[in-house]
Amino acid sequence: MTSPSSQSDREKVVSKLPPWLRQELKIRTAQLRVDIQDAVHQGISHWSALASAPSPVDTSGAESFSTWLPAGQWESFRADSKDRGVSLIQGLAQAVRLWLEMNPAPTVKRPSVVRRIVVCNQKGGVGKTAITAGTAEALAEDPDSLHPVRIARQLARAASEEGTADGEPETSSPLDLEDLPGLGMRVLLIDFDPQGHLTKQLGQQPLPIGGDSLTCHMAGEAKGPLADLIVPVPDQRFGNRLHLLPACTDAFLLDVRLSTVRAREAALERALSPVESEYDVILIDCPPSLGLSMDAAIYYGRRRDTEQPGASGALIVVQAEDSSADAYDLLTSQINDLRDDLSLDIDYLGLVVNLYDGRRGYIATSSLQAWMDIKDPRVVAVVPDLKEQREAVRVKQPLFVYSPKGDQAIALRALAREIS
Ligand SMILES: Nc1ncnc2c1ncn2[C@@H]1O[C@H](COP(=O)(O)OP(=O)(O)OP(=O)(O)O)[C@@H](O)[C@H]1O
Ligand SMILES: [Mg+2]
Repeated sequence: MTSPSSQSDREKVVSKLPPWLRQELKIRTAQLRVDIQDAVHQGISHWSALASAPSPVDTSGAESFSTWLPAGQWESFRADSKDRGVSLIQGLAQAVRLWLEMNPAPTVKRPSVVRRIVVCNQKGGVGKTAITAGTAEALAEDPDSLHPVRIARQLARAASEEGTADGEPETSSPLDLEDLPGLGMRVLLIDFDPQGHLTKQLGQQPLPIGGDSLTCHMAGEAKGPLADLIVPVPDQRFGNRLHLLPACTDAFLLDVRLSTVRAREAALERALSPVESEYDVILIDCPPSLGLSMDAAIYYGRRRDTEQPGASGALIVVQAEDSSADAYDLLTSQINDLRDDLSLDIDYLGLVVNLYDGRRGYIATSSLQAWMDIKDPRVVAVVPDLKEQREAVRVKQPLFVYSPKGDQAIALRALAREIS
């Protein structure tokens, strides 16, 4: 949370508050981007303006709580509490509860058109699956609790519409760690890779061969509704918001089956359209290839008529090494060809430089600089090479369940916000 613009006209007050009420206050002020001291100030003002004290709050277990209030407010609050025959701790708890009641949690802002994020690069092993899963987990996280995010200062400023406009000098480092509410999106992950890594990493089973699958739906040979194939990724922090369409090894033959399909670029769109209304964001974990199925994925990420630029598109995962650059050229030429051939608007959501380790020396640092220099699309995240990612894969748990406070999750939350 940001610090107040000035403490000079405020005085520090120390009292007590029950831990549950303090936690609710912390979350709600973060959700509304309000300073805790301003919330307490408003709560006390409203409380004092009431005709009589509201019903009591259970203050058992109250712990030390300090904040800053405008000079004189605490003194008159003390007098009001005395007049009403309530203790200061009870009065403060009532004031905070009153503020919470008057300032309900904001509802999650949902996109009007489902956002489609195509995570791609035909180069293998760069971390497409890890970035797809982590971004999805960050997008689906619980909006009613706080999670650590390493967020660039200017992003935080834009979100809070405050900051240095008043001429205050920057006091924080360019990359601050903040506790922010989850984004609360309803998210569908598509394991579009016949290897099924995403499915397995999330502890789920690939769909059995010979049954229904995304490939069948794309080939126009569906055996039932697509929704029946989708499974939830269970964990309290995702509520029931994070779902997965598991892979099936029949996707190894997807390009062959697509070759006879009419308007095959639109095959993924046709297959997914029946479930789109259930989700805010759909992420496609692409295989390391550049075939017809990739065309269908890119087509699916094109900008639709009613959509804002940059809401959907291709998110390209690369590594800071020389061979990544050649792969990138091939991928962008495929995207540009499709864009020109079919007259589509296809947006790039950005480059993610993954598995970065500056200790690897000049090759890593100069390659990172080369990615930075591209500028369009710009680098939207640099994700370090961290052991918790590999460990989460090993134990087949979502990263955000295995290590919710780890640096990897912290970086991926920032990425999810950067492309939102
Ligand atoms: N930032 C990271 N830090 C540490 N390990 C990572 C990171 N990102 C990915 N990995 C690990 O690198 C390996 C390859 O990652 P991943 O499977 O996500 O790549 P991919 O591009 O999807 O591969 P493929 O092309 O085969 O689909 C995995 O073991 C994964 O856990
Ligand atoms: Mg993969």
